[in-house]
Amino acid sequence: MSYSWGMLVGSLRGALGLLFLACPAALWGADYVGSNVCRTCHPNVYSTFFRNPHYKSIASGREKPENTGCESCHGPGSDHVAAGGGKATIVAFSDLATEKVLDACLRCHSQTLSRANIRRSEHTQRDIVCNNCHSIHSSPAPKFLLARQQTDLCYGCHTSVRAQFSMPFKHRVNEGFMQCTDCHNPHGAFAPSWNMAARPRMVDQAEGNEEPCLKCHIDKRGPFVFEHAAVRVDGCETCHSPHGSTNARLLRRPVVFTLCLECHNGFGNFGRRADGIPNPSPTHNLADPRYQNCTTCHVRIHGSNANSFFFR
Ligand code: HEC
Ligand code: HEC
Ligand code: HEC
Ligand code: HEC
Ligand code: HEC
Ligand code: HEC
Ligand code: HEC
Ligand code: HEC
Ligand code: HEC
Ligand code: HEC
Repeated sequence: MSYSWGMLVGSLRGALGLLFLACPAALWGADYVGSNVCRTCHPNVYSTFFRNPHYKSIASGREKPENTGCESCHGPGSDHVAAGGGKATIVAFSDLATEKVLDACLRCHSQTLSRANIRRSEHTQRDIVCNNCHSIHSSPAPKFLLARQQTDLCYGCHTSVRAQFSMPFKHRVNEGFMQCTDCHNPHGAFAPSWNMAARPRMVDQAEGNEEPCLKCHIDKRGPFVFEHAAVRVDGCETCHSPHGSTNARLLRRPVVFTLCLECHNGFGNFGRRADGIPNPSPTHNLADPRYQNCTTCHVRIHGSNANSFFFR
């Protein structure tokens, strides 16, 4: 007597009936039935689906069944239809473990999100995955299928960040001139080449692995003949609070010289600190208010093409 594959699967199903109930149909070789069948019982979901970018696969009619319409995400539906519905016979995202959600979406999106190192992102590690931020069927805005307007979405979990963008000096995110994704990639980021390698903070890397700040503040990009290592190596947030600050110019310190002296702090010693950072020369008399505002003389603090002391 020979066993067909189908019979084998059938008897397995019998034996593991209980387990089967808990498993998505896709595991057991259900067949694809096409999105039109889903339409009959889920008319509300279907009726708005034409606006969804995933509708393209239905419209074109050129994709394989496993990449077409409803079943491209929910898996083959024949068992589900035969059972008259129910969560156990279909990939139901409401019951899915977070890494299964990732698998389901990354099957197609791993390419688009390849810049993001998504599986190791801080969000993924905290079980924040695709459907926490995207809503496939009830997004208020079809673009990017976000669950909420972006700023509200992020503030929903990052309440303290909202306060930072309400400070006296800030980037105007709350006013709608910028958004979080001008600087962050919520899908994740690789360790950058600048100082934040130790704490990437999902800060997006613009072209050429440079800080996203330089997309807008292009005059700071360089390369300069005389680079200030603090800018190029340590990164903008060494001196600036990127969200907002109580200090003008988004500075981390209220008085400029305290900022500089965090590194150029060998006063009283001639020459350089052990790590090579030069001390300001003895002509610098810090008791003299004239010397306290370092950037009145060192005006090109972000780098200069003309002067190694950043005077012009
Ligand atoms: C791109 C992947 C994807 C496609 C394509 C897709 N869905 Fe969904 N579906 C989801 C996700 C994710 C959820 C979980 C809720 C959410 O995030 O909106 C869901 C939820 C559902 C639900 C639960 C009720 C609800 O509204 O939350 C039903 C029913 C459903 N989908 C049916 C369908 C039907 C019918 C189609 C085809 C017209 C379809 N889905 C196409 C991903 C998809
Ligand atoms: C014969 C009617 C029928 C057909 C056809 C049908 N469904 Fe369902 N579906 C149901 C019922 C009933 C439920 C259970 C509703 C509930 O639990 O709220 C359900 C539940 C679901 C869920 C789980 C919703 C959740 O809460 O997470 C998804 C996803 C789903 N269906 C997708 C599909 C897809 C995709 C198709 C087409 C392949 C399809 N359905 C075809 C009747 C049907
Ligand atoms: C079968 C392949 C496939 C699967 C599975 C899939 N997608 Fe997509 N997704 C696409 C395609 C194709 C587009 C349309 C791209 C375009 O418009 O050029 C798209 C578009 C999107 C967009 C909108 C992009 C934009 O520019 O507006 C989002 C967001 C998205 N998908 C998220 C998801 C999520 C979340 C899941 C898992 C629940 C998922 N996708 C599963 C193929 C897929
Ligand atoms: C923490 C929130 C968050 C999570 C988690 C998330 N996204 Fe996104 N996603 C966004 C935001 C915000 C945008 C819009 C980006 C923009 O405005 O440039 C976006 C854009 C997209 C786009 C279109 C633009 C692009 O970069 O290609 C796709 C596709 C996408 N997401 C898919 C996914 C998938 C698939 C997952 C899970 C594997 C996922 N997202 C997880 C917030 C998130
Ligand atoms: C102007 C660029 C910029 C914008 C816009 C921006 N961020 Fe940031 N964000 C950064 C940088 C750079 C860091 C890293 C700071 C550091 O490591 O000191 C950061 C850090 C963070 C952190 C890590 C925790 C912390 O406070 O150090 C969170 C969370 C965060 N941002 C959320 C958001 C959210 C939510 C938005 C939108 C409402 C947003 N950011 C907009 C640049 C930006
Ligand atoms: C569902 C909740 C949730 C949403 C929505 C969300 N985040 Fe997060 N985010 C978290 C959690 C949890 C962490 C890890 C703990 C922490 O740093 O607060 C995190 C961490 C971060 C970090 C810091 C990463 C690090 O390395 O320290 C940044 C930056 C960030 N999120 C930006 C965003 C942006 C931008 C959005 C909107 C597109 C967003 N988040 C939406 C929950 C969320
Ligand atoms: C999307 C464009 C954009 C990005 C990205 C961006 N900025 Fe800005 N930044 C601006 C604009 C526009 C202003 C002008 C102030 C305003 O909007 O009120 C500004 C203001 C500033 C100021 C204050 C200038 C002043 O004269 O008071 C500093 C400092 C600054 N940005 C630093 C940064 C840093 C550091 C980053 C990266 C973490 C960054 N910016 C990313 C657009 C951007
Ligand atoms: C070594 C500390 C330091 C670093 C690092 C630094 N800045 Fe600054 N930045 C300053 C100081 C100090 C001022 C105020 C200058 C003044 O008051 O004349 C300033 C002013 C600014 C301003 C407003 C005035 C102007 O020159 O346009 C912008 C914009 C700015 N910085 C952007 C950036 C960006 C972008 C980076 C990263 C590429 C960066 N800064 C890195 C110290 C720094
Ligand atoms: C994060 C540390 C750090 C901070 C903060 C910092 N610097 Fe620097 N600075 C450096 C390093 C490193 C060098 C390069 C030393 C070398 O070339 O060996 C440098 C070089 C300089 C030079 C050129 C010295 C020379 O001999 O070529 C001047 C001038 C200078 N910094 C002024 C300032 C001023 C003014 C501030 C405050 C606005 C400041 N720095 C903040 C680290 C820092
Ligand atoms: C009145 C103008 C003026 C002010 C204000 C000023 N400097 Fe200078 N700085 C100079 C001059 C001139 C030189 C180069 C000649 C010399 O070394 O005296 C210099 C050189 C330096 C050097 C390089 C020393 C070396 O040997 O390579 C550093 C570092 C420096 N300044 C840091 C600072 C810091 C930090 C402040 C703020 C506390 C500051 N400067 C304020 C004029 C000024």
